[in-house]
Amino acid sequence: MTTPNTAVESTLVENRVFPPSEATVKAARIQGMEGYNALCAEAEKDFEGFWARLARENVVWNKPFTQTLDESNAPFYKWFQDGELNASANCLDKHMGTPNENKTAVIFEADGGEVTKTTYKELLAKVSQFANALKARGINKGDRVLVYMPMGLEGVVAMQACARIGATHSVVFGGFSAKALQERIIDAGAVAVVTANYQLRGGKELPLKGIVDEGLGLGGCESIKTVFVFERTASKCNMVAGRDITFTEALAGQSTECEPVLVGAEHPLFILFTSGSTGKPKGVQHSTGGFLLWAKLTMDWTFDLKQDDVFWCTADIGWITGHAYVAYGPLAAGATQIIFEGIPTYPNAGRFWQMIERHKCSIFYTAPTAIRSLIKSAESDEKVHPDRSDLSSLRILGSVGEPINPEAWMWYYKNIGKEKCPIVDTFWQTETGGHMITPLPGATPLVPGSCTLPLPGIMAAIVDEAGQDVPNGSGGMLVIKRPWPSMIRTIWNDPERFKTSYFPAEMGGTYYLAGDGAVRSADRGYFRITGRIDDVLNVSGHRMGTMEIESALVAKTDLVAEAAVVGRPDDLTGEAICAFVVLKRGVPTGDEAKQIAKELRDWVAKEIGPIAKPKDIRFGENLPKTRSGKIMRRLLRSLAKGETITQDTSTLENPAILGQLGQTY
Ligand code: PRX
Repeated sequence: MTTPNTAVESTLVENRVFPPSEATVKAARIQGMEGYNALCAEAEKDFEGFWARLARENVVWNKPFTQTLDESNAPFYKWFQDGELNASANCLDKHMGTPNENKTAVIFEADGGEVTKTTYKELLAKVSQFANALKARGINKGDRVLVYMPMGLEGVVAMQACARIGATHSVVFGGFSAKALQERIIDAGAVAVVTANYQLRGGKELPLKGIVDEGLGLGGCESIKTVFVFERTASKCNMVAGRDITFTEALAGQSTECEPVLVGAEHPLFILFTSGSTGKPKGVQHSTGGFLLWAKLTMDWTFDLKQDDVFWCTADIGWITGHAYVAYGPLAAGATQIIFEGIPTYPNAGRFWQMIERHKCSIFYTAPTAIRSLIKSAESDEKVHPDRSDLSSLRILGSVGEPINPEAWMWYYKNIGKEKCPIVDTFWQTETGGHMITPLPGATPLVPGSCTLPLPGIMAAIVDEAGQDVPNGSGGMLVIKRPWPSMIRTIWNDPERFKTSYFPAEMGGTYYLAGDGAVRSADRGYFRITGRIDDVLNVSGHRMGTMEIESALVAKTDLVAEAAVVGRPDDLTGEAICAFVVLKRGVPTGDEAKQIAKELRDWVAKEIGPIAKPKDIRFGENLPKTRSGKIMRRLLRSLAKGETITQDTSTLENPAILGQLGQTY
């Protein structure tokens, strides 16, 4: 672990405070800090009673639970264990016979601009029909299904259909490579893949099925018996007889009714792979009951969802945000939500603002990177400025995935929220299943760049390496001291890694270690996240392990002898990937170096995906190492930032190479 860095230093002096207006407080579900404090007090007083009450109020149980929390095998906590439910029934069936039945569940806007609306009743029929198609291919409760889909209704349908029959889905973001897909299929032991022939992004048709074929062709994927192919476009793709089936064929003749399969609360709803500090991504396993409770509850708490809201979370279903706040939360809460296909800058960089106007979006939830890039576009091209769109339908804004710098926060607040919409800066992780530390729109006074306070019942704290609380104003490691319903249950196939990565023995073995550095403000006790303390980078809100990229680079055995990857701050993407590479053939310069750098980037894109391409590549005949052979990463981080080296380099085995590593390609 490294000491927490302070990527957002300017928030250290942040003293602007924006309390919610009286009207916002009055209209909110949790009213003012009194409302918030009352819930926190309830959780403090009777922790299990608090969660039991919320679980009964927010989830439809077919068999009620009798035990709330089982800590007997900590940190493998179990919540609502003997309760039974179905996640899809909690998102769809429960609205039948209510005013929500014919309400629009999803407004889908395609890459080309076409809009399709689907009601809750129609969505239930689609999900049921696809669930029957899964069953017809022999897929059952407990099987794993890999979903590799573009953004759109069908991806959500696939996830919900898995949940309906008790199959565990594992969604892989459509930007990951064939190799990444293959590794995830093998680790999950998936029996089927749900994909599309192509995906549309910015007017371009990009293959998905082709990548699936390539991934399966890499070997070891014999568990896959079926590949379902959604025909997103009219273009043909390769189909393997007996294994592959189009959506049209699979759905033909299937009933639009399918009885939901009841599962125990702890049944794995999904596995989602994310990066850690080793080369191998971790399959984060989530439960059904706890995850669903959280998705529904945080829609109500964090977004203060009202029945007439139009909710829009811009995240892809390939990430946890798209699981909690596209595929499950909005549906469980009975919201109308927007799903968009494509990219924010096509047909122009005003698309988000135009879509807010077009669909009367009232709650908008996006990532700081998107905001920063759209600020740049708006400032350089008046035609895509948000002022050109009517944003008066908005009432709440949200931010997720990385620290939001106060400058971007202020722009978002003024230009999008017109100084009347609270911004909920939600801190959470793939592992937490949903929001952990966030303002509540009708309660929390906002401070730009701070995710403010933990949700009621979330016992967040900042501690030192021994697990001792540090005083406000001092930096330390973020932990959650007590379990919570939507927490990660284990790492798929690797319970030992689950224990050691998240519940360090030095801290007593029961504190959840988030992997982020944080500091609480001296005055309000507000949390500010200062960045990862492990070898995980956050590039445009995408989590990448440095070791993962290093492994990919050294796998290019004809060229690369050694590689070290670090992050450096970047104005647009938050962090940027910087790779230091030792080639087998000496240090290249000029055009040749540029050419090799390109080759290496393309290679990484093939090994992991384009999001993992290093922005900077530097070549040296060696890496800075101590005499015992340890790479001095701290030094590499300074070099990557372009800092003058003031550190003591006398322990370096080879100080001369620092000069070589200065040139970026
Ligand atoms: O470093 C934190 C950062 O994103 C990491 C989690 O990434 P991932 O599992 O991909 O989930 C992203 C979507 C929830 C965290 O360890 N992070 C997430 N939200 C924030 C944040 N950093 C600062 N502020 C946030 N609001």
